[in-house]
Amino acid sequence: MANIIVVGGQWGDEGKGKVVDYLTSRFDVVVRYSGGPNAGHTVRRGDKKFALHHVPSGILTDGVFCVIGNGAVIDPASLVAELRTLEEQGVSARGRLAISQRAHVIVPAYVRKEKTLEESRGEGRIGTTLKGVGPAYEAKAARTGVRMVDLLDAGALHRALSAAVPADEVASTEAALTELAGILKEYIADTTRLLADRMEDGERVLFEGAQGTLLDVDHGTYPFVTSSSAVAGGACTGAGVSPTRIDGVLGVFKAYSTRVGAGPFPTEEKGDRGEKLRARGNEYGTTTGRPRRCGWFDTVLARYAVRVNGIDSAAMTLLDVLDGFDEIPVAIGYRYKGDRIRQFPTEPWVLDSVEPEYTNLKGWRADTTGCRSFEELPRQAQEYIRTIEDAIECDIDMISVGPEPERSAVREVSKLSAWLADGA
Ligand code: GDP
Ligand code: IMO
Ligand code: MG
Repeated sequence: MANIIVVGGQWGDEGKGKVVDYLTSRFDVVVRYSGGPNAGHTVRRGDKKFALHHVPSGILTDGVFCVIGNGAVIDPASLVAELRTLEEQGVSARGRLAISQRAHVIVPAYVRKEKTLEESRGEGRIGTTLKGVGPAYEAKAARTGVRMVDLLDAGALHRALSAAVPADEVASTEAALTELAGILKEYIADTTRLLADRMEDGERVLFEGAQGTLLDVDHGTYPFVTSSSAVAGGACTGAGVSPTRIDGVLGVFKAYSTRVGAGPFPTEEKGDRGEKLRARGNEYGTTTGRPRRCGWFDTVLARYAVRVNGIDSAAMTLLDVLDGFDEIPVAIGYRYKGDRIRQFPTEPWVLDSVEPEYTNLKGWRADTTGCRSFEELPRQAQEYIRTIEDAIECDIDMISVGPEPERSAVREVSKLSAWLADGA
């Protein structure tokens, strides 16, 4: 049995959906443990494209059971729409999806609250996805939240909403949620028990992270972060599973860097080459359509992600996007007021003004999208991967050279291949 956490190593959108989809056939259960409609995980299968927000990417694989854990926040209207879209695309979640009773509900008042707050921040705005995610976690911590379990009982829902939304909105929110509850109630369950039972039976569980390490509320570039525990540790609290049941952590890293929204980004490339990364990588948000900020791979931040998540194996995605560059910079350290920095600084004002130190690696100027093993990659691409492995102190066991599952390779002798073989 191998239970694995897949976690984003950067600012989200690392290709977690693609990696999870590729790995899912080796697992019995896939669990989302944090975030909500702010996430957008894209999976491509042939000419079909799926955009998942709440639902684990595992839903696309027949026979795999999916769980939305207690650490997630759910917008019931948007989840129902997501399930409908999946149905239209030929994917049914019926009998294959469980939603934690303990997951918190996003109500329309939270979305409005967030919009007002972001507008009031002016230049200092975070650039959130405006999906009500922040206010939902805020209400959870303030103990005024509405939980999925409340949707199962009219009296409980009324009481919870009375504490959560302005008095003049209780009735309308209650009516809307009651209708949605009719659709969602078949999925709402005690998922911590369900997971414990399935693990007891020897089923293998894949934990699908949302967002990324640098967006984590504790470990990210605070305050330019999301409001949840995106790191691997969040899988335990967000799914109600003990750390002793986890066998490994796979970190997903894009071959370069992107970020949506505001906040420090030391290796951001604002010129033509940044534009080229955006065009080649089609770097526009899955959830909001916003252009993503693009830049080079940052080994200072990635090494930090390896440490805080305990990443023991890494996947490098979107390597093919770099096919068209003569030279590819990789940040190996920072300069700050004349000093060299090799560690991720906690002080935002430091991270804001560091100068990255780059090593410029030779590009390969060759099409990698047909490569199905490390050995098939151009020599310079192998060198690129080796340089990053050394700097982040972690093996890169999987590469992705295109959005489709077949455009992937797993190293034969690696931790990842051992996990996948375990119990297969
Ligand atoms: P996630 O949020 O981590 O699941 O990532 P997103 O789905 O938001 O963004 C990743 C984007 O890159 C999606 O459009 C994927 O289809 C695409 N993608 C994933 N892996 C690869 C790859 O190896 N090469 C290319 N060209 N695109 C990829
Ligand atoms: P996936 O799972 C990229 C960013 C937002 C904003 C900040 C806070 O697809 O990788 P929020 O709405 O969460 O309060 O916004 O976090 N953000 C993401 N960026 N990928 C995501 O998810 C994100 N989820 C939130 O752009 O900067
Ligand atoms: Mg995404």
